[in-house]
Amino acid sequence: MKQEQLNELLYQALETELGGVQVYTTALKCVVNEDLKEEWEKYLDQTRNHVQIVQDTMTTLGLDLKTETPGRKVVRHTGESLVKAMEMALESAEPAAAELVAAECVTLAETKDHLNWELIGEAAKKATGETAKALKAAHEEVEEQEDEHLYHTTGWTRELWIESLGMKAVLPPPEEEKDVKTAIGAARAKHARADML
Ligand SMILES: [Fe+2]
Repeated sequence: MKQEQLNELLYQALETELGGVQVYTTALKCVVNEDLKEEWEKYLDQTRNHVQIVQDTMTTLGLDLKTETPGRKVVRHTGESLVKAMEMALESAEPAAAELVAAECVTLAETKDHLNWELIGEAAKKATGETAKALKAAHEEVEEQEDEHLYHTTGWTRELWIESLGMKAVLPPPEEEKDVKTAIGAARAKHARADML
């Protein structure tokens, strides 16, 4: 494994989690649905904890948390752009429309976050010694929460959009009702939505 690229992944993971805190903080200003608000409050707390977990892992691996990399800057830019998009919606759109923008922004942020952790899990399998131990411990603590953040928010985004189109929506979404934690589970939940209407 290329050590330098593993370091890059961790810098990007840290920046993604830091951006995630900003994204959830702003998304919570846009949220209308009370159940979704509760979900995102929980995810914000978990994301704050993920920042700490990545920082601890990096410190264990001897990485300086402040090192800038071009890739890290790009991730920060994306996070700031998502926050700006939500602020734009808050200023100019109806509350329900701003909520949709927020749901899309959280889904985009969580897609990158989920990928990072999937890759950290893969790297943990190949790594050796202290590195393997640190990566595995971090991955174990975070993985299931990242699955929930991505799959459940994707479901919320779809159902809120369906509701906005004037069609019958499943709220809370089937992904949440069925407590989905895998991609195949998310596909099944989506498939079963017709029976839940
Ligand atoms: Fe996270």
